Amino acid sequence: MDSSAKLPLAYTSRTDRWWVEPLWTGAGFLAFVLYTTWSMLQAEFYWFSAGVEGFGGYLSPFYSPLIFINPTVSGAAPLDHAWFGSWPGWWPKLIPASPAILILMGPLSFRMTCYYYRKFYYRAYFLSPPACAVAGIPRKEYRGETALLVFQNLHRYTLYIALAFIVILTYDGIMSFFRGGEFGVGVGSIILIINPILLAGYTFGCHAFRHIVGGNMDCFTCPNGKPTKRYRLWKGVSWLNGRHMLWAWLSMIWVALADVYVRMVAMGKWTDFSTWGM
Ligand code: FES
Repeated sequence: MDSSAKLPLAYTSRTDRWWVEPLWTGAGFLAFVLYTTWSMLQAEFYWFSAGVEGFGGYLSPFYSPLIFINPTVSGAAPLDHAWFGSWPGWWPKLIPASPAILILMGPLSFRMTCYYYRKFYYRAYFLSPPACAVAGIPRKEYRGETALLVFQNLHRYTLYIALAFIVILTYDGIMSFFRGGEFGVGVGSIILIINPILLAGYTFGCHAFRHIVGGNMDCFTCPNGKPTKRYRLWKGVSWLNGRHMLWAWLSMIWVALADVYVRMVAMGKWTDFSTWGM
């Protein structure tokens, strides 16, 4: 749609339900952001080990890694799980002392600059345009992502934050198979180990990661005419990349569900069925 034509908002010749996708993606992401914000501000019930001390337990992925811990709140992780010990006394009173506040900007910066997320939130929230071949909000000139939005280029760097989180959340997933040092399996362990797998499916299908793997190459079959390891890797990454939207939503919904699950068992509202309780 030619923006210079100054057509009224949502003008289109399309006869399909083009508005369904921006509607559900916009509403879905808004729900995620609202829940994440609420959860982050709670600062409690983010840890469950059924009262068993020692190695292992369930940690909500929204609260991992734990930089500081206030061990006196309900449902807090043991103090020795914090990277830097107990919550510092200099922390401003106006800002909730929540371990999630210190880390959520990392994964969020990765998602907010993702090419797929950019596509849907430009459509759903900024209507620029709301869908292909549908007129968006009229404006004087199209500057793309060159002006205020130039920060979106940071995505290639936020990728490394996401890679670090895969490692951290995999460690948490493994830790969830232990309670007081004893190996077992609970519903929570399965949920927490699936979480980094979905995040990896999303992250390794990232366009920036695909460029790292297969970019800057002139030939995938040199020097002997056979496909190189990098080519095979690039094919795998490209497979994930072709399903990037699916991985984005699965990993996002799952991480929120994992937080809900840990919170509910930590509050005693849900029973965690497990081999430890048998
Ligand atoms: S393009 Fe979506 S995570 Fe990089």
